[in-house]
Amino acid sequence: MAMKSRFFSRVVTTMLLWLFFLLSLAPLLVLGTAKECPFPAIFNFGDSNSDTGGLSAVFGQAPPPHGMSFFGGPAGRYCDGRLIVDFIAEGLGLPYLSGYLDSVGSDFTHGANFATAGSTVRPQNSTLRQSGFSPISLDVQWNEFYDFHQRSQVVRNHSGIYRKLLPNDGNLHKKLLPKAEYFTKGLYTFDVGQNDLTAGYFSGMTIDEVVANVPDIVTQLTNIVRYIYGLGGRNFWIHNTGPVGCLPYVLERVPVLASRVDEVGCATPFNDVAQVFNSQLKDAVVQLRKDLPLAAITYVDIYKLKYTLFHEGQKHGFKQSIRNCCGHGGKYNFDLELGCGGSKKINGTDVMVGKACDDPSKYVVWDGVHFTQAANKFIYDQMVGGTFSDPPIPLKMACHRKN
Ligand SMILES: *[C@@H]1O[C@H](CO)[C@@H](O)[C@H](O)[C@H]1NC(C)=O
Ligand SMILES: *[C@@H]1O[C@H](CO)[C@@H](O)[C@H](O)[C@H]1NC(C)=O
Ligand SMILES: *[C@@H]1O[C@H](CO)[C@@H](O)[C@H](O)[C@H]1NC(C)=O
Repeated sequence: MAMKSRFFSRVVTTMLLWLFFLLSLAPLLVLGTAKECPFPAIFNFGDSNSDTGGLSAVFGQAPPPHGMSFFGGPAGRYCDGRLIVDFIAEGLGLPYLSGYLDSVGSDFTHGANFATAGSTVRPQNSTLRQSGFSPISLDVQWNEFYDFHQRSQVVRNHSGIYRKLLPNDGNLHKKLLPKAEYFTKGLYTFDVGQNDLTAGYFSGMTIDEVVANVPDIVTQLTNIVRYIYGLGGRNFWIHNTGPVGCLPYVLERVPVLASRVDEVGCATPFNDVAQVFNSQLKDAVVQLRKDLPLAAITYVDIYKLKYTLFHEGQKHGFKQSIRNCCGHGGKYNFDLELGCGGSKKINGTDVMVGKACDDPSKYVVWDGVHFTQAANKFIYDQMVGGTFSDPPIPLKMACHRKN
């Protein structure tokens, strides 16, 4: 009897041990898919909302007082400090992104930024001088990326013509360029589309005409995601477009359409179109998930966060909403002819009149077109946890696919 019961208790103990073992595995099974993603690089595409030096390198630096709140001077950004993409880089423990077009002091080890201020998704039939839109549209950014993807590895491999040209000094040729695997493990971020809409308004299109272009804009954007997937990209982080009807440059430039405003003074026609764009983009992302079975694609509702800043900014420590910090004259401290950092000849000498406000951290809008660092930080802090994302997962989990 004693033998039997000892045997029995041993069986029970063994079973219990197994049970504990299996139970200890359970969290692993659940959390296994929720491990933080070790993103080793960021590859960014877009416009001035995320340009960290592209346009400045090619068409002239953004002048002071850009960069005043953080970089201590101009840093290729149309902002007093950091952009959302800078906060994303910080959040992932990566260095700030160098502009792909910036050949001075750039380091592409952990990614590259293909965005330039004024970029559209669709190539424009006008020059920067004529319309203010960058010739580096998204299709051009794709060409640059394709070239970078290919040639960065040729140089890292130290092969072909580089065998003779590069000094054979160990790792010199590997410096400053990403490893091949980073193109698969990296995060591909997008913030583009705003300028396609404003390019329509500025060229005299009606609201209906701009809306009619949205499907083509969205298709061209998502095609670039498909091409990158084809080269091995897997993790995509796509911002929707903001409430451009709350920005002085649109309000001042298209007064006819800007006459219908909401309670804080944002022009509803522009914001309605932005929402049309966003809803079509969101649908296109759903389709992308079906078509690209290995891709993790996060759609981020930047619109809602920017809109909150204009409507409830005071709750979050902002004193001004639409009126911008850096500029000169008019209803919004904004002059279409003379922007932030702009000078005027007064009595024969150049005097900077596009000055910054005393405390940019109390303003949402920096220069009539772009957001302040404080606004960008607010947006980043709100979005990083996943509350404004579809699927609602944190930035650091954005390599996990939603099925
Ligand atoms: C530029 O012109 C081409 C040819 O007429 C046209 O197909 C395209 O839609 C135009 N692009 C834009 C952005 O208007
Ligand atoms: C670089 O070297 C790796 C490993 O040998 C090879 O797989 C890859 O094709 C090379 N890439 C280029 C662009 O030369
Ligand atoms: C420019 O010079 C005139 C004549 O000396 C003077 O009256 C005026 O105040 C000056 N304007 C500014 C902005 O300094």
